[in-house]
Amino acid sequence: MNYENVMKLALERGFYFPSCEVYGDAQAGFWEYGPSGVGLKNKFLELWRRELVRRDGMLEIDGSQIMSKSVFEASGHLGSFADPIIKCTNCKSTFRADRTIAEMAKIDIPESADLEDFDKAIKENDIKCPKCKGTFENTKKFNMMFKVGIGPEEEIAYLRPETCQSIFVDFPRLFKIMRGKLPLGIAQVGKSFRNEIAPRQSLLRLREFYQAEIEVFCNPARLQEIERFEEIQDTVIRVQTESEPVSMTCKEAVERKIIPNKFVAYYLGILTEFYEKTGIDITKSRFRKLGEKEKAFYAEVAFDFEVETTIGWLELVACNYRSDYDLSSHAKKSKEKFEVMDNDEKVLPHVFEISMGIDRSLYTILEHSLKDDKENERTVLSLKPYLSPIHVGVLSLVKKDGLKEKTDEIYVKLKRKFDAFLDHSGAIGRRYRRLDEIGSPFAVTVDHQTLEDETVTIRMRDSMEQKRVKVSELDSILGEYTSFP
Ligand code: GLY
Repeated sequence: MNYENVMKLALERGFYFPSCEVYGDAQAGFWEYGPSGVGLKNKFLELWRRELVRRDGMLEIDGSQIMSKSVFEASGHLGSFADPIIKCTNCKSTFRADRTIAEMAKIDIPESADLEDFDKAIKENDIKCPKCKGTFENTKKFNMMFKVGIGPEEEIAYLRPETCQSIFVDFPRLFKIMRGKLPLGIAQVGKSFRNEIAPRQSLLRLREFYQAEIEVFCNPARLQEIERFEEIQDTVIRVQTESEPVSMTCKEAVERKIIPNKFVAYYLGILTEFYEKTGIDITKSRFRKLGEKEKAFYAEVAFDFEVETTIGWLELVACNYRSDYDLSSHAKKSKEKFEVMDNDEKVLPHVFEISMGIDRSLYTILEHSLKDDKENERTVLSLKPYLSPIHVGVLSLVKKDGLKEKTDEIYVKLKRKFDAFLDHSGAIGRRYRRLDEIGSPFAVTVDHQTLEDETVTIRMRDSMEQKRVKVSELDSILGEYTSFP
């Protein structure tokens, strides 16, 4: 199934939809999650916490979305967090230079390339304004941070463009009060904000978006010593080589020097294990090492975790080795101490970051899970049962003869433990189809026999098989299938 199919499902089944939809002045790049989207997102994040945060005893914080100017002076975002833009001399429309060149001349120039590279490509390929065919001014940089004014004096601050800056500035306090020990992972989930010039494709390029970021603070002299490497050394990851993505174990990737050290390989391994459990087709994934001009300005080495979809490869996670870039910049500007003790050694930790785009991950899960079951004339969202927004639909075959009341009674019990959806009305077949589309792995139907022997039918989403089970067994059946692995 493709982008349009996912979009239709998202709008019709309450996964996501445009923000401020009823007004004509709604801006592009802002989308809202409906009840199904929130259910999926919460479960995705629970899996993330289990597989990455808790697995490694990381700390989780929840920082401010608005941060002071000093933070971004130190972090380099005020100087360097900018996109290349071109403005038409005639109609004054503005476009992203890299995208316009890619679309009109099929040439890929990284967004962080020198401005002259864009001007040269525009001139050599005679690229004109897509709206009016006018010529372009020289390429300029446009800072993507949203500026806000604090209080009546409107003191300048910014909406954070990445969640991790609070992790960096809070690091000395957190290390001390939580009795930290290197390597130490600190995680955060929340919104970030980027004033994209060309937001597009719903969840895929937003101006306000969710990140789940992990910053692992480490001693740079100990990157080959990670104790837990053994846990993932045989985990297979897919790494982009010159021609194509190749599967190899984490151990092999380190031995062949494709991944620089065991420390980085460990996190790429657990990240792959996590995504496998989300139901994304991992054979369509790759870690791609970024070239010098593609990397973010703070990264020393960077691997993007990308997944193939019907609209191309999507970057779901940026894995950046940020070295001591952030801690030394904040130490210098704030004049606070950011060094810590690692056994007897005083070190300024380096940082390896796993920066996950939640919205894009959810889109990819939906696309990879959505199936067109032609034989049975239905659309099925084959989500992993533990990620499904609804675990079970509870349906009465008919409303009369006391079946409604019995169904309500079963629903009230089930909804304490599971995400249950009660449905009394409409043809039963149509009600099953709706549950299939929302990804509910089970439907429980109450019929006349239920009143006689306390049994119901339970229908499995993927096989459409139905079994008769005791009402008293529902808890354990649903519990077994919907609990996290
Ligand atoms: N913190 C890395 C990023 O936002 O891409």
